[in-house]
Amino acid sequence: MDLAAFLTEERERVDGALNRLLAPADAWPARLHQAMRYAVFGGGKRVRPVLARAACRAAGGDAELILEAACALEMVHTYSLIHDDLPALDDDTLRRGRATVHVAFDEALAILAGDALLTEAFAVLGRFPEGDGFAARRADACRLVAEAIGSRGMVGGQVEDLEATGATPDGVRLERIHRAKTGALLGVAVELGALLEGVEGASRAEFAGFGRRLGLLFQIADDILDVTGSAASLGKSPGKDAAAGKLTYPAVYGLEAARRKRDELASSLADEAQRLERGLGVLGALVNYVARRDR
Ligand code: IPE
Ligand code: IPE
Ligand code: MG
Ligand code: MG
Ligand code: MG
Repeated sequence: MDLAAFLTEERERVDGALNRLLAPADAWPARLHQAMRYAVFGGGKRVRPVLARAACRAAGGDAELILEAACALEMVHTYSLIHDDLPALDDDTLRRGRATVHVAFDEALAILAGDALLTEAFAVLGRFPEGDGFAARRADACRLVAEAIGSRGMVGGQVEDLEATGATPDGVRLERIHRAKTGALLGVAVELGALLEGVEGASRAEFAGFGRRLGLLFQIADDILDVTGSAASLGKSPGKDAAAGKLTYPAVYGLEAARRKRDELASSLADEAQRLERGLGVLGALVNYVARRDR
């Protein structure tokens, strides 16, 4: 498959829907909506919504069914980035090739724009896919996403990421942090695609497990890129993890072993993708993309 063309098309669909779902930039209070839009339309890769839609296709569904719900994941993700960059967390000034929200606007607005994106995401999940027939699936989706990004998921992972800064290298702790801070949201993205298509039970658990491992792969690749990438390609400042003393794959295992772990995980996920999507090839191509990306 032509992954580049596929991604371009998917990103256009997602961006168009995000534009419709978010309040206009001049809606009251304008500065808040400007900050939200500044963060959302800053050139993100849209990996989470694309994955959710790919999983829906792999489950035999029509990805248009979950266009809006997939966008809710991008709203959650963008909130997590705004807060991750705050002075109290990673204290970053560059994101998606531009000044971070607290630099371009101010810290209070960055906190509140994050709060609003998180909240609005659940309004979208509560509303889409529309129709009485989807009411039970919408309720499941809200609960699953909330659990994935709450205190035992993404936010919990962010807390331990901060607590582990400067800590002695510990591979078990490292994997727990990565599975929570990044794996949980990618896991629920994949699961959401299957859930909204009506996949239940063991089959849905397979989608969820695949997504969580893909999330771990995603964060290992992110750690490696922090060492090997440039600000121009990443759109964020490299070298920050080592400078801050973060627990990362290169810090715990060294760069070469981190790359080996990334490649081993990617190859086992590629096999898993093949089983899940029965020859479709989209999830497999996305595994490869996540492992090999340069931004
Ligand atoms: C960055 O996520 C934060 C992590 C979880 C590693 P992405 O690499 O998906 O960032 P964008 O959305 O493309 O900017
Ligand atoms: C971010 O991890 C994870 C979340 C935002 C939940 P990082 O701190 O490594 O992400 P980057 O490198 O700043 O994008
Ligand atoms: Mg961080
Ligand atoms: Mg960060
Ligand atoms: Mg990082």
